[in-house]
Amino acid sequence: MLDRTRTLWEKQDGAVGDRRPLYTAVAEAVEAATVLYPGSYVDLAPSWSWPSVTYVDVDRRANQFFSDLDGVRALLAERESGAANHEVRFVHADYQEPLALPDEAFDLVISLYAGFVSEHCTRYLRVGGHLLVNSSHGDAAMASIDDRYRLAGVIEARNQRFRVVTDDLDRFLVPKRPVEITRASLHQSGRGVAYTRSPFAYLFERVA
Ligand SMILES: C[S@@+](CC[C@H](N)C(=O)[O-])C[C@H]1O[C@@H](n2cnc3c(N)ncnc32)[C@H](O)[C@@H]1O
Repeated sequence: MLDRTRTLWEKQDGAVGDRRPLYTAVAEAVEAATVLYPGSYVDLAPSWSWPSVTYVDVDRRANQFFSDLDGVRALLAERESGAANHEVRFVHADYQEPLALPDEAFDLVISLYAGFVSEHCTRYLRVGGHLLVNSSHGDAAMASIDDRYRLAGVIEARNQRFRVVTDDLDRFLVPKRPVEITRASLHQSGRGVAYTRSPFAYLFERVA
């Protein structure tokens, strides 16, 4: 493994904390085999939960990281030997441009802190598949006004423990102040909407 592969992973893991409990909770809640992660940087943690993950990022260091496939496999094996056999693909590209990936090929799309992934990458998600999205860059709000989605659950976090809640979902995505949420307003602010409740993330199902 190249030194920089481990260094990049340790920095990522240290910065965001262990994401495996998050992805484990999602993997238990929705059936998925193929995952697309636009704006992944070097967040490798989904590959411990799913057998096939396609990572997408424009960043040069992310490209270097995933180019060291032996190193990536070694990192996966360190925490779970079986994960080293999982399919790990990387696309070095701007997800806002058409990607060389088939439409509706993925069961799950991950959108965390990486802009309006849902706007550009829903085409790759199969109908019936799910979007895991947080609100920080406004993408949860973007999904909430997208007719192709319905809210299927929220992910609540406490002390690094994650649980998927699927009942009384009307409690969520309620703005603190009455505001009209449109694609234009979200693009203009580039931020999430302030909601009365702030779960860690949301799960939307693609319905159309
Ligand atoms: C703040 S990091 C978040 C990384 C990871 N999702 C996480 O939660 O740790 C945002 C990443 O999204 C990538 N990104 C932002 N816009 C992008 C785009 N249009 N196409 C591809 N990658 C993008 C950046 O290069 C960066 O690596």
